[in-house]
Amino acid sequence: MKILGIETSCDETAAAVVEDGRFLHSNIVASQAQLHARYGGVVPEVASRKHLESILAVVDTALASASLDLRGIDAVAVTIGPGLAGSLLVGANVAKAFAYAHDLPLVAVNHLEGHIYANWLLPGGHQEESVEGTPRFPALCLIVSGGHTDIVVMEGHGHYRRLGQTVDDAAGEAFDKVARLLGLGFPGGPAIEKVAAGAGQSHLTLPRAKLKRPYDFSFSGLKTKVHRLVQGEEGTPPPLPELAVAFQESVVDSLVSAVLRAAKEQPVAEILLSGGVAANARLRQALSQRSPLPLRVPPPHLCTDNAAMIAACAYFRLQVGDVAPLDADVQPGLRIG
Ligand code: KG4
Ligand code: ZN
Repeated sequence: MKILGIETSCDETAAAVVEDGRFLHSNIVASQAQLHARYGGVVPEVASRKHLESILAVVDTALASASLDLRGIDAVAVTIGPGLAGSLLVGANVAKAFAYAHDLPLVAVNHLEGHIYANWLLPGGHQEESVEGTPRFPALCLIVSGGHTDIVVMEGHGHYRRLGQTVDDAAGEAFDKVARLLGLGFPGGPAIEKVAAGAGQSHLTLPRAKLKRPYDFSFSGLKTKVHRLVQGEEGTPPPLPELAVAFQESVVDSLVSAVLRAAKEQPVAEILLSGGVAANARLRQALSQRSPLPLRVPPPHLCTDNAAMIAACAYFRLQVGDVAPLDADVQPGLRIG
């Protein structure tokens, strides 16, 4: 079964064709990052206008790269939330129009669930199946993106039990805000990772938030600490590379500690990492070195927003007959678990 996936929840206009939830036929992502960089973050109105301009060309390219037209597609999947309302609406309306015009089932996908399903994709095509196998349940999932930081147990397809979440900033949001404080531009995650990688070790240690609920996260105190240091409120400001390393270590340590604790306390078979921050090499390295269980992490380009993960998730939703009505509304505040 070939599914056309569409993703426009934030600042990436994306379309992909995925077969049987695993095999990538095409994966097109038009990033708006450069457009938003001058504002230091995503401007919702600018994002939805740009989606509108790009979406049809992106879908056409995804179909052409898969050597298909819509007659070769079995279902249309789209991100329904969470995300920016105006941006979600562009993808949702285009998906509904295709589904209606070609009499195809429409599948409404939770973006956070989509991120997890990037772990089902085989980036290189059919031949890799035997190497990777499929994730086993129950799976411990850490979703770290620009808008969310959630730790959930996936009991089976579509069944999630949330253990914890961020009580303030998401991990990616913290990277973006601290990058702005350090004058490193947008998006902040890759910028901080690059500076930190060139700096080696830091003698500076930044705080890790201690919360009452063991699986919750907090990153806003860390951001405030960096702000105070940069402003010279605690003496001579440390060199920028030291700050980048210390900040990254603090975020990685908080995330890894929660995952390790959950891996010990919860009956789970393996760990699935996902979301834009999962592209971070230091996080990937720290988890793979310390994880007591098999760890699955998508390649970096499938960690950040894409439509292949949406099409992959939709395949498993369709297996249980989860077809959305054509008047399905977007859900900007949708959660998982
Ligand atoms: O999942 P995603 O592409 O979009 C959302 O759903 O939010 O995540 C984007 C976030 C941004 O905050 C970005 O700075 C962060 O992921 N990110 C990274 C890296 N690449 C992207 N954070 C740390 N290291 C990276 N290499
Ligand atoms: Zn995302």
